[in-house]
Amino acid sequence: EEDPRINSIRTKIRLVPNFPKQGIDFLDITTLLLDPKAFKNTIDMFVERYKNKNISVVAGIEARGFIFGPPIALAIGAKFVPLRKPRKLPGEVISEEYTLEYGSDCLEMHLGAVQRGECALVVDDLVATGGTLCAAMNLLERAGAEVVECACVIELPALKDR
Ligand code: PRP
Repeated sequence: EEDPRINSIRTKIRLVPNFPKQGIDFLDITTLLLDPKAFKNTIDMFVERYKNKNISVVAGIEARGFIFGPPIALAIGAKFVPLRKPRKLPGEVISEEYTLEYGSDCLEMHLGAVQRGECALVVDDLVATGGTLCAAMNLLERAGAEVVECACVIELPALKDR
C-alpha cells in the first residue's frame, strides 16, 4: 500500500522538457514548494522515517538539498551541514571530486563541521546516477561520520538499474 501522501507530492513536481538542454526532461521541485501541504507532506515523511534514529547530522547537497535538509534537521533535532560546490565555503574544507556524464565536479565540507562517530543523513532533491550522493557519503566518512542513509525526493526511473 502506497502512502497517499506520495501521490500528492508526485503530482506537484513539474516536468520541464528540454531543460537545461535539448533532450533532457528536468524534474522541477519548485512547483512542489508552492504547495504548502505537499511540501509539508514531503518533510513529514522524511521526519517520520528519521526521527529517533540517533542522527545528529543532516548534510544537504547544494543546491536543492539546502531546501529539504534544514526543515528535516530542525524537526529531528540534528545540526545542518551544507555540502557545497567548490570555493563557496569560507573556512578550511575537505573536497571530494566526482565524475559526471561529461567532465567532473566537486563537493566541499567545512573541516570540524562533523565529529568522528556522529550519525549522518544525506539529503538532496534527486538521485540520477548516484555520483553526487557517493561524493557526499565519502566526505562524511572521511570526517569519521557514519552515513545512516541518503534521502532524496525523486529517483529517476530511467536509471533504476544503476
Ligand atoms: C542535480 C541534483 C543532484 C544531482 C544528481 O544537481 O540536484 O544533486 O544532480 O545527479 P547524480 O545522481 O547523477 O549525481 P545539479 O547537477 O543540477 O546541480 P545544482 O543543484 O547545483 O543545480
